[in-house]
Amino acid sequence: MSENIHKEPIIPIVLRNGERAAIARKLQDARLCIVSAVERNMPFFGGRFPDAACCNGIYPVIDNQEWTTSFWTGQLWLAWEWSGNEVFRELAGQHVRSFGERIAKRDHTNHHDLGFLYSLSCIAASKLTGDRQAKYIALQAADALMERYNHICGIIQAWGELDNPDQQGRMIIDCNMNLPLLYQASLATGDARYADAAKSHIEQARRYIVRQDGSTFHTYYMDVKTGQPRFGNTHQGFSDDSCWSRGQAWGVYGFLLNYLYTGDKKLLELSLTLANYFINRLPDDFICYWDLALTDPTTERDSSASAILACALLELVKQLPVTHPDRESYEALGLKIIDNLIEYYLNQTHQPGEGLLKHSVYYFKGNVGVNECCTWGDYFLMEAITRATSLWNRYW
Ligand code: GLY
Repeated sequence: MSENIHKEPIIPIVLRNGERAAIARKLQDARLCIVSAVERNMPFFGGRFPDAACCNGIYPVIDNQEWTTSFWTGQLWLAWEWSGNEVFRELAGQHVRSFGERIAKRDHTNHHDLGFLYSLSCIAASKLTGDRQAKYIALQAADALMERYNHICGIIQAWGELDNPDQQGRMIIDCNMNLPLLYQASLATGDARYADAAKSHIEQARRYIVRQDGSTFHTYYMDVKTGQPRFGNTHQGFSDDSCWSRGQAWGVYGFLLNYLYTGDKKLLELSLTLANYFINRLPDDFICYWDLALTDPTTERDSSASAILACALLELVKQLPVTHPDRESYEALGLKIIDNLIEYYLNQTHQPGEGLLKHSVYYFKGNVGVNECCTWGDYFLMEAITRATSLWNRYW
């Protein structure tokens, strides 16, 4: 159990003279390029969805069944916010109905990623347009997520059927991002059960998924008979004792989001600790390798993880007092990451079916989506740009 977690100091990061203004100009150009790319992808996907990651540079087109389909919906909502073009809102609205059918039929919903799916589709719709149906659908998804809450362990089971002994008692760092759906359900209904489950899960994640050096396990097992901790390991990382970059990014952002809903300062502090560990292992261009233990410059990057980190850093800037010693560094780094993503990782020659953000890694050892675009990379690039260019009412 990690109670005395070491927070590494970071070396101050500053913007050069004129760098902020140059980045601001670049962001405006990037927004135009991205809105056009999203529009070009609309007829390609039609009423269906991109698969999680590209295959040889193109997204396979799938039904609304993966854990990732809402990242496309989230891009549509952001494109609508950026451009005011109603075509984006119309398709996103169709997606909301698709997500309604999916949860009603319980079609590929036996996992914890209901938070990713319904925050970026239905919670976003409800916040942006006041769509009451979307709010109701999100509540049904929250109910389905609650079924995965294990009272003995105090966690939400990540994957698989609830009676699968190999998956029972297993939580994963990614789940931090799924918990806002539960807080939203408590806010919508006044029923504290949802938020209580989220608070219990995040406390268990705080205790057991975070290691004493400020890194994280990808996954952690609890004993379903006693509720006692068992062991951590990895699924998508390099090794059980390494630190999977995207997991750490989910941690930085997810603990922060949970702080926003609970006001628990321990979670804010943890987000900072995980952020510093991440920052200290970034290569020179601030775009991480797919695992933070890897240092060979030929290693594949996971640009999506750096995009997630940039979103978290810009949210941290909003939450920290101006006197906080690292606040300016977090802002400078958030902007530099976005700048480099746009300069070196943005797909500039976008054809229909292609993604926005190149050079992500989905699952290295499974050889899935290695050095490809992925839907969440595309989405978080857009969210990061949104955060850097406007006051944004988050969908999470
Ligand atoms: N949540 C799964 C992933 O980040 O690949």
